[in-house]
Amino acid sequence: MNRIALIFLSCCTIPPLAFGQSGGDAAAGKMLPDTIQCTLCHGPDGNGNKGSVKFRLGDVPRISAQPQAYFVRSMEAYRSGKRTNDDMQVLAEQLSDKQIRDLAAWYGSQKPSGVATYFYDPNN
Ligand code: HEC
Repeated sequence: MNRIALIFLSCCTIPPLAFGQSGGDAAAGKMLPDTIQCTLCHGPDGNGNKGSVKFRLGDVPRISAQPQAYFVRSMEAYRSGKRTNDDMQVLAEQLSDKQIRDLAAWYGSQKPSGVATYFYDPNN
């Protein structure tokens, strides 16, 4: 009996892998109302848009499968104004640290596809 309790405890206290490197919760990131806004430009799975005329935009970078630490750094840079882009700054300013980590986990778990490219080397 004790052994069963121990197995149960050890399995459930280890953080699930789905939480990823940023500590974010991918399922929560998917459900964020802001994710709907993200998908308008970056596509439903974060694979971006190439030459999109939607919302006066040209290329919108791919954010799927990005290393979560890079994603979090980018969003923090928009939020603090270190990195400038009118649309991204307005959105990032409304997000909490947790929401940014959750979004990082959700987009980080998506598969890359399509023709859009990453803006910067996601490994930097
Ligand atoms: C109105 C269109 C639009 C919306 C909505 C939008 N983005 Fe963006 N996003 C862009 C554009 C354009 C860029 C490239 C900006 C630049 O030059 O830095 C970008 C850049 C980014 C980057 C940096 C990519 C990189 O490789 O450096 C991340 C991360 C990102 N967006 C995440 C999000 C998230 C998360 C949301 C939803 C909260 C979102 N975006 C909503 C258009 C949008």
